[in-house]
Amino acid sequence: MAKLYIEGGKRLTGKIKLQGAKNSALPLLAASMLVDGTTLLHNCPNLSDVSAAIRILDSLGYKCTQTGNDVFVKASMPLCDCVSPELMQEMRSSVVFLGAILARCGSATVTTPGGCELGPRPIDIHLKAIQELGFSVEENGGYICCKRVNMPKEVDITLDFASVGATENVILASCISGSTVYLHNAAKEPEIKDLADFLNKAGAKIYGAGTDTVTIIGVEKINSVEHTVIPDRIVAATYMSAAAVTGGDIEITNINCEHMRRIIASYSEMGCDIVFCENSLRIRAPEKLRRIKATRSTVYPGFPTDAGPLLVASLVKASGTSTFVETIFENRFNYIDELRRLGADIKVYNRVAIVEGVSKLNAANLCCTDLRGGAAEVVLALAADGITSIDKIHHIERGYEKIEETLSGVFANIKKE
Ligand code: UD1
Repeated sequence: MAKLYIEGGKRLTGKIKLQGAKNSALPLLAASMLVDGTTLLHNCPNLSDVSAAIRILDSLGYKCTQTGNDVFVKASMPLCDCVSPELMQEMRSSVVFLGAILARCGSATVTTPGGCELGPRPIDIHLKAIQELGFSVEENGGYICCKRVNMPKEVDITLDFASVGATENVILASCISGSTVYLHNAAKEPEIKDLADFLNKAGAKIYGAGTDTVTIIGVEKINSVEHTVIPDRIVAATYMSAAAVTGGDIEITNINCEHMRRIIASYSEMGCDIVFCENSLRIRAPEKLRRIKATRSTVYPGFPTDAGPLLVASLVKASGTSTFVETIFENRFNYIDELRRLGADIKVYNRVAIVEGVSKLNAANLCCTDLRGGAAEVVLALAADGITSIDKIHHIERGYEKIEETLSGVFANIKKE
């Protein structure tokens, strides 16, 4: 099993070219199923989750070719309408294939994604919406079987919560259909807009993506499309956090700063000097980071839950006491025990983390608990004296393209062994 070894204490400086967004690439790969012809995705990150999505497409009869950051998808065989439990379990986000398979086949069999490191991950909101779109849903022994029973001409759906995955599933399931769908309380995350932009380029009629009401006018078919995946705002937050805790000066290029507004606000509040234009951002850390006002994760454009662990890691190095409240996932603080091993002073009360800034951290042997928690461990290890080892880095590799190379490029002492 590979581990990361990080010798902390080095000030990070230089340029980082940001990778494409995992959370866009996965629904876009699912969306490629709807295309009659070929899909060419650029800026698609090389990640284990992307490989898992490609294996699902292969298993459904699609031909995928990955060359660097380009992925080419072509429908080449009759389709089947089920994803094996093994493939479903490889990543929780495989549930986004449900909407795409339903659109293509009119039926689908998948398994429930089950819980994950962040707590229970129900898909009740997805399934309720799918029923409202005219599909029957039967759950049996861990399998979910859905079948088209009617095709409503017009349907209004209001999600109980603005779920990112459920919004994507509704868009995918209805984009090539005979229905017009008005989706209310839709998620507004940039990845939703990217999905709609991709589908519209291919000939779909989706309006209002990025707002809380999305209208999908079903079309008969959509055609070959070429698209560039948006930059990864959470990976950007990771490198901002790495600059902040090391007193660094990093320029991130290939970024979309419009997506970063809420994150920029927190790092500015900490005293970082942030200068940005449309697609580049420079962050210069102050000598001492400042505490920030209580911050809570919430849906876009609020502070993203995925950037929470990275913010908490930065606050460990700030002066005074800061509070972070996690409102989206029940069980997102597992990584905090690992940060404590480095000397972080963090108390957790249910979904509230109270971070007392410390001036000195010492290396320790750590273990990744989950994707973003693992990234937070890497960030804080960069600020600890001595050599920290981090185990179970497969969690990190689900979402970061060669994190050790990127950080070495800005003078971190980090290696993978
Ligand atoms: C997506 C992101 C993930 C991010 C999350 C919130 C991808 C691949 N993943 O996950 O990185 O942390 O958005 O921004 O894009 N819920 C239900 N029932 C449902 C669906 C969701 O109770 O049917 C709950 C979840 O358990 C969670 C909350 O709603 O507590 C948010 O989930 P959702 O927005 O659906 O997140 P994902 O799409 O799974």
